[in-house]
Amino acid sequence: MNQAVTVSVDQGVALIRIDNPPVNALSPEVISGLETSLDRASRDSSVRAIVIIGAGRTFIAGADIKGLEQLAWGSDSGAPEIHDLLQTLEDTTKPVVMAMHGTALGGGLEVAMAGHYRVAVPDALMGQPEVNLGIIPGAEGTQRLPRLVGLEKAIEMCVSGKPIKAADALSAGLIDRIIEGDLATGASAFAREMAAQAGALPKTRERKDKLPPASAIPGMLEAGRDLARKTRRNLEAPVAVVDALEAAATRPFAEGCAREREIFFQLAQSEQAKALIHAFFAERGVSKVPGVSKDTVAAPVNRVAIVGAGTMGGGIAMACANAGISVRLTDTSQDAVDKGIATIRKNYDVSVKRGRFTPAMVEERMKRIAPQVGYDAFGDVDLVIEAVFENMALKKQIAGSVASLGKPEQVFATNTSTLDIDEIAVASGRPPQVLGLHFFSPANVMRLVEIVRGKATSPETLATAMAVAKKLGKVGVVVGNGPGFVGNRMMFPYMYEAQFLVEDGATPQQVDAALTGFGMAMGMFAVDDMAGLDVAWRVRQELNQFSQPGARKPLVADRLCEMGRFGQKTGKGWYLYGDDRKPQPDPEVLALIEQTATANNIRRRSFTNDEIIERTIYALINEGARVLDEGHALRAADIDVIYTNGYGFPAWRGGPMFYADRVGLKKIYDRVSAFHQELGQRWAPAPLLAKLAKEGTTFKELDKRRAGSLVGASS
Ligand code: 3HC
Repeated sequence: MNQAVTVSVDQGVALIRIDNPPVNALSPEVISGLETSLDRASRDSSVRAIVIIGAGRTFIAGADIKGLEQLAWGSDSGAPEIHDLLQTLEDTTKPVVMAMHGTALGGGLEVAMAGHYRVAVPDALMGQPEVNLGIIPGAEGTQRLPRLVGLEKAIEMCVSGKPIKAADALSAGLIDRIIEGDLATGASAFAREMAAQAGALPKTRERKDKLPPASAIPGMLEAGRDLARKTRRNLEAPVAVVDALEAAATRPFAEGCAREREIFFQLAQSEQAKALIHAFFAERGVSKVPGVSKDTVAAPVNRVAIVGAGTMGGGIAMACANAGISVRLTDTSQDAVDKGIATIRKNYDVSVKRGRFTPAMVEERMKRIAPQVGYDAFGDVDLVIEAVFENMALKKQIAGSVASLGKPEQVFATNTSTLDIDEIAVASGRPPQVLGLHFFSPANVMRLVEIVRGKATSPETLATAMAVAKKLGKVGVVVGNGPGFVGNRMMFPYMYEAQFLVEDGATPQQVDAALTGFGMAMGMFAVDDMAGLDVAWRVRQELNQFSQPGARKPLVADRLCEMGRFGQKTGKGWYLYGDDRKPQPDPEVLALIEQTATANNIRRRSFTNDEIIERTIYALINEGARVLDEGHALRAADIDVIYTNGYGFPAWRGGPMFYADRVGLKKIYDRVSAFHQELGQRWAPAPLLAKLAKEGTTFKELDKRRAGSLVGASS
């Protein structure tokens, strides 16, 4: 026993409590504490049954990912073997009941499956999410899970990594009872019941009744591998986990475990595991922001007003309604509001058709959204989000108009994607309560929100915005105020480089294929068509992006806009779109590209996919280094979170800055310098990239070094 695990005995039941905040991860102390506690309970003659339970918010949320990170990078974490504990648990001669609440994930569920019985509260979640970290379950989960729930269900759970709820777990056979009311009391009563029963204790490893007949196995495995390839594109672990599950269905338990370990250790040091573990901690790291500490008071946000019932306003309203927040949705005319509400209704209907919501859930959400014209009752809301089109004068006017209506701490957020937050803050007359909340379209779906900190934004306002993002189920990343903030600012050089490549001889489909081959969710031209070519067209004009003498200006995009080819919404842009909305190459565009190149004396040549990746992704990285150097992003890892959550950058590559580290900053710097020579000023290497390359270090190391300067920041 140690501080992380304690035992108390009451009426013949030993209650072993794991207390390792925040999530009871299986640290070495927890593992050794469980072993000692089990030993003590086994030897105590007054104990007839044992209950293992988690203190605080959860059962065991898994192996300690910090230990896995060490393993991924090749240093021995020194963690004790968990396999002895699993055997001890299963061989204990008194009934062992696992009492689960919160989340029993990964190693947590694996420990639970080695107990004789499992009970859970109704809202408990259980799963094997290891594939999301680039690994497979490594504590015999692939061998015990199919023995409890069957091979098909185990494949579904391990490939998707998604946890299941208690009711589903009960019907699948993963748990034995759902406990309403106090878990410790209910689990202890259940344990006494089991102790009173005659017969041998059920050992999961000895069970065969749920395993399919040999003839059914190949079909199930094939379907599982298909599912992995289709739904978890480019990921190694979801395919590999099926191999381990195959061993469970076809070999004795011990051999299956050996196969699992072999695959686990192969993947544990893979590039994907390194990247996905980086992505996990990067996402948790964004809540550490200078000036915002545990003591900074975030105002509760239960009521929100949204100004502008267009695409963004409507999407934000849905995101709020989904999170239980009541919304006042306003626009300048009844007609505009009605249209906004009709679109929201239509979007929810699609969700019902896809089985995401029931009609009752939609009605509940629609009731939370109150349409109105004007600013009536704005005084009651905790947060106003302005989501009108990108026009500074209008945004300033709205900020000024609503400023006097609310309570002093009411936060005013602008959803601008490019404009200066400070100018809007000044216009409001109460700059400390103003910031940017840059949602990404569709706002009810996309996880990313850039939280733009203005010069005068108060820590409380920032904390409120961070809490709102969390409440909406989004990842809120605090960024600095500057044109395009972080994500869009980096996007521009990337987008224009893709366009230059096309003018220089590639085709849109070749560039897009290279990018999706690299792992991007969509190619740059398909993205531009989806967002609307007119959006970047307007930004080009407003920000006067090519004003520097000698700057190369993209030519074809403007021509397409002049032709009214704005992308998907006009049925044509870089591609042609039919009813299925699938992009088709358009000979007219290819001809236009060639004509434009000829008219401008551009010598065209062919490009390899590697060249395309270097020209586009390195442009992204170089700009990322500038953004970081200028302090618009707090950490390189924050940029990674922005790109993996908002721009379709593959999480299995960790994000652009982590990817750069893995390629090697010296190599990136050399290529960028070569492009600078060849292609001109736009490729000038970012000073920070040059510096880190020279030092032979990485962005990750830089983040670590700088972590000290974020002292005072905590989640
Ligand atoms: N190991 C180490 N730290 C962990 C952890 C873990 N398994 N799970 C969460 N944490 C830490 C987070 O880093 C964070 O730390 P911080 O406060 O210092 O930033 C803190 O716990 C709270 O985490 P969240 O902010 O994510 O809290 P939420 O309440 O939003 O979510 C959760 C809780 C659902 C448990 C979520 O943290 C989660 O999904 N964790 C990962 C679960 C997982 O992947 N488990 C499998 C691990 S791999 C494994 O078990 C291998 C085995 O098969 C051998």
